[in-house]
Amino acid sequence: MDMKTDPRFRGLEPFANRVWLSSPTMHGDEQRFVDDAIATNWVSTVGRNIDEAEKAIAEIIGVQYAVGLSAGTAALHLATKLAGERLYGRAKPNEGTLAGHRVFCSDMTFDASVNPVAYEDGEAVFIDTERDTWNMDPDALEEAFRRYPEVKLIVLAHLYGTPGKMDEIRKIADAHGALIIEDAAESLGAKYRLKGRWVETGAIGDYNCISFNGNKIITGSSGGMFLTDSKEDADKVRKWSTQSREPAPWYQHEEIGYNYRMSNLIAGVVRGQIPFLNAHIEQKKAIYERYKAGLKDLPVTMNPFDAQKSIPNYWLSCMLIDESAMARHSRGELDEKWTRTKGKTCPGEILAALTAFRAEGRPLWKPMHMQPIYRNHAFVSGVDVGEDLFRRGLCLPSDNKMTREEQDIIIEIIHRCFR
Ligand SMILES: Cc1ncc(COP(=O)(O)O)c(C=O)c1O
Repeated sequence: MDMKTDPRFRGLEPFANRVWLSSPTMHGDEQRFVDDAIATNWVSTVGRNIDEAEKAIAEIIGVQYAVGLSAGTAALHLATKLAGERLYGRAKPNEGTLAGHRVFCSDMTFDASVNPVAYEDGEAVFIDTERDTWNMDPDALEEAFRRYPEVKLIVLAHLYGTPGKMDEIRKIADAHGALIIEDAAESLGAKYRLKGRWVETGAIGDYNCISFNGNKIITGSSGGMFLTDSKEDADKVRKWSTQSREPAPWYQHEEIGYNYRMSNLIAGVVRGQIPFLNAHIEQKKAIYERYKAGLKDLPVTMNPFDAQKSIPNYWLSCMLIDESAMARHSRGELDEKWTRTKGKTCPGEILAALTAFRAEGRPLWKPMHMQPIYRNHAFVSGVDVGEDLFRRGLCLPSDNKMTREEQDIIIEIIHRCFR
């Protein structure tokens, strides 16, 4: 059915300007820093913007070193390789550091969190999600260690800017002598109370990564950083990311290298964005709270967080439809069908309605254990919470340039889907 002619939506007009899920928000200094790099000819992977952006991020997150890289995925890859080398030794040039080893991974995340395990020839074992924060379930993690006691590495993400249960997960990791790779790509600026002290996500793992992808809370258009207190690890990542050159007059290589360093132009955008991190978080928080208030009379809940132990960055506002209000629907590999039912709806219908009115939402991350590429990997779960969240949940337009009026209309569209 064409949503625009559906009588439920009568009287609503499509937005003149598209409302995005989460688009870049520039402030002016980004241009100045990029222009300065060009004017001074530091148009390369060295320069003042990189130095300043690294320094500022390290200070904000409370770590000794931040290494600017071409993407969050690059940071995750080198973090995974560092962990692999520390645990299992240096690999042959044509072999990954995790060959023959399992790694416990968040199941409900973007595949960039876990693909580096495959790049390093390891085998991801997916750990189901808990309902309190939509992150890695400590109980499932415990169960995974019962099944695979030899595992020594955990990769976990903080979904949509909401910190996971890090105190429990850290305890479990320590009890089993396992290292943690923290994927804070979505949660830059979110805080967690660990052992009575507030810490930033991105400073909790043994290896930590953030992203400046165009849709993130602050952006460089692309880019990412590796964060650590270890000078040795920071130096190694810097070396690997610039083709693993040895300090010789010619190109001398003892290790496999990568071209993963951040560009000084990208760093100029990042540098200009950093002072606005808190302002962006405030805007995202206001969006979350307006949705929460505006949807409270519907059979839905918002993405949850632990208010005692965490302060999210509210990157994306998400909602979950109560089971009792789910319309009949089915998802194939590439599409979704549903039956219109009075008083009920489903993520597909809401997303179609938003699209019809020129607003961008998105299904929740499809869990890794449901992805064709990873379907034959082990999945440790009680009742498959990830599948349930994916079926009933969706990400709402969360752009920090969305006006109150636009958000009110989005809330109205969602209400009408339940008619
Ligand atoms: C959870 C998560 N991990 C990793 C990434 C990868 O970051 P990038 O796009 O900078 O490579 C993203 C987003 O893009 C992400 O959302």
